[in-house]
Amino acid sequence: MYRFSHKDLLGMEQLSVSDINMILDTADTFMEISSRDIKKVPTLRGKSVISFFYEPSTRTKASFEMAAKRLSADTISLSARDSSMGKGETLIDTARNLQAMNPDIIILGHPSSGAPHLLARYVDAGVINAGDGTHEHPSQALLDLFTIRKKKGRIKGLRVVIIGDIAHSRVARSNIIGLRKMGAELTISGPPTMIPADAESLGVKVVLDPAKALKGKDVIMILRIQLERQSGTLFPSLREYSLVFGLNTELTKGAKKDVIIMHPGPINRGVEITGDLADGPSSVILDQVRNGVAVRMALLYLLIGGGRFDNLG
Ligand code: CP
Repeated sequence: MYRFSHKDLLGMEQLSVSDINMILDTADTFMEISSRDIKKVPTLRGKSVISFFYEPSTRTKASFEMAAKRLSADTISLSARDSSMGKGETLIDTARNLQAMNPDIIILGHPSSGAPHLLARYVDAGVINAGDGTHEHPSQALLDLFTIRKKKGRIKGLRVVIIGDIAHSRVARSNIIGLRKMGAELTISGPPTMIPADAESLGVKVVLDPAKALKGKDVIMILRIQLERQSGTLFPSLREYSLVFGLNTELTKGAKKDVIIMHPGPINRGVEITGDLADGPSSVILDQVRNGVAVRMALLYLLIGGGRFDNLG
């Protein structure tokens, strides 16, 4: 019999199709809690969650903390500014000290790829990768899968295009792995300098021209231009990027009539997407954020409880 049995969530790579379905189904049961007047259930009462973000985050940080609080877990939040790493403490020593307080889960967002994997080797607590460098952002991919399934009723067989800075995007990487596992047909598009050299080996089709890439698509996923992760100038100017690769109403006409437009945020309005599209009827950008709380509740519940609870509240 299937049982969710992971200690950590380090990447989409580690999840089976059954794991992903279990996370999405569990998130579905948690959606209703966020619409209650009293948005709290006792499911994780007495459990402790530490969130540790070494880089700026609005959505992921707030969403994980809200998810933990809605399940009644005790939460502590640390950032690079208020941790002792600025005094020279290593990540491993930090991990050992946090472990000494016996938390149940540590959520780590870090600019270095592999940091959560290192942490997971040194702590008994479950570790959730909340984004590591250019590597993976699994909870974002899961909330994206959840949003697609909710809007389209399925993932298998859908035609999805991801447009933008694929090479520097951990969101793209996690989504490519997740969408492929769930049977979507995937195309990527963007400036050649932003397409990973091993793109074809990831099982995706590369179509550089965005107008051709989004033809007949069910889902358009737009990525943020990640200036902070690029080592040099990969395109002449933001204006030029926007003229060629920025999503606008005219471009979307080639996609299916009922196409949904996704973006993990934060948005550079007028660069990778126009404001009217981001706020328009095809946009599910705020649905992604709303669904993210339920998906992260599901992750905390499954990682801490391992499906041992039979009452979700
Ligand atoms: N989508 C995402 O990771 O957003 P934040 O950087 O605000 O966490």
